[in-house]
Amino acid sequence: MYKSVALSLLWAAAALAQTPPQTWPVTETNLGAIYDENITVTPGLWIDPNDVGDEPVLYPTNDDAYEGKYMVFLIDWMIPDDDVTTSNLYRTLVPGLAVNTTTRLHWWAGNLTLDCDSGVFVNESAAIATYSSPRPRDSTNHTYALYLFDQPADYVLPEEAAEGLYTSQTTDDRYNFSMVPVFEAVGSPVAATYFLSNDA
Ligand SMILES: *[C@@H]1O[C@H](CO)[C@@H](O)[C@H](O)[C@H]1NC(C)=O
Ligand SMILES: *[C@@H]1O[C@H](CO)[C@@H](O)[C@H](O)[C@H]1NC(C)=O
Ligand SMILES: *[C@@H]1O[C@H](CO)[C@@H](O)[C@H](O)[C@H]1NC(C)=O
Ligand SMILES: *[C@@H]1O[C@H](CO)[C@@H](O)[C@H](O)[C@H]1NC(C)=O
Ligand SMILES: *[C@@H]1O[C@H](CO)[C@@H](O)[C@H](O)[C@H]1NC(C)=O
Ligand SMILES: *[C@@H]1O[C@H](CO)[C@@H](O)[C@H](O)[C@H]1NC(C)=O
Repeated sequence: MYKSVALSLLWAAAALAQTPPQTWPVTETNLGAIYDENITVTPGLWIDPNDVGDEPVLYPTNDDAYEGKYMVFLIDWMIPDDDVTTSNLYRTLVPGLAVNTTTRLHWWAGNLTLDCDSGVFVNESAAIATYSSPRPRDSTNHTYALYLFDQPADYVLPEEAAEGLYTSQTTDDRYNFSMVPVFEAVGSPVAATYFLSNDA
């Protein structure tokens, strides 16, 4: 009896999560995202890499009040470790979703506010990490998670981010990106979604 209740609760949690299974941090609140004008992301949707070249339009899909400012992150959870380092250092990498994978930061933009007229989030400043198009180089599905985080009024960017460490789309510093400092600074994501893509 207890077991089945616990199992069904687990089931419900898994069904509600808007973040990829086996990843952290998590949220059950969906983030709306539209690519290429009419591809609406639903958690786990496969999207052709040719259709994610430009940053998506983001919007809330629930009735929460979205006052104040927000930050968005796009993270690839399936970067092969050997794209990043040598095997003796694999154990130091931020773990990705599969064995011998790590993460990569594709996009980090702050100062987003909800524009009430259009119902979408708009930016008031240049991105901290400009959007870099997902270009999965292997036939394995990569898992790309979009996170919306609160940006409290007193939020201070980490020094290296403020100094432009992640600005370039091609910098190696975007690999092995950890969400821990983000979570420690601003808490759990307020909304998220994710999609899959591969070099089919
Ligand atoms: C939007 O969808 C229509 C019909 O599915 C398609 O023909 C069109 O190319 C799409 N537009 C964009 C910008 O993707
Ligand atoms: C992961 O990498 C280690 C170190 O190179 C290797 O020994 C191991 O076989 C790899 N595991 C998989 C599943 O590829
Ligand atoms: C990966 O990031 C972690 C901290 O987040 C760091 O300790 C580790 O040295 C990094 N590994 C490599 C190979 O850069
Ligand atoms: C917000 O904008 C200010 C002013 O342009 C900038 O200094 C700051 O780094 C931005 N913060 C984030 C999180 O993007
Ligand atoms: C908002 O982001 C876009 C696309 O990344 C950028 O071109 C634009 O300059 C940004 N707006 C401001 C006010 O910085
Ligand atoms: C990638 O994901 C899609 C959608 O879930 C699935 O149909 C496809 O088989 C997957 N491809 C691989 C190589 O796993």
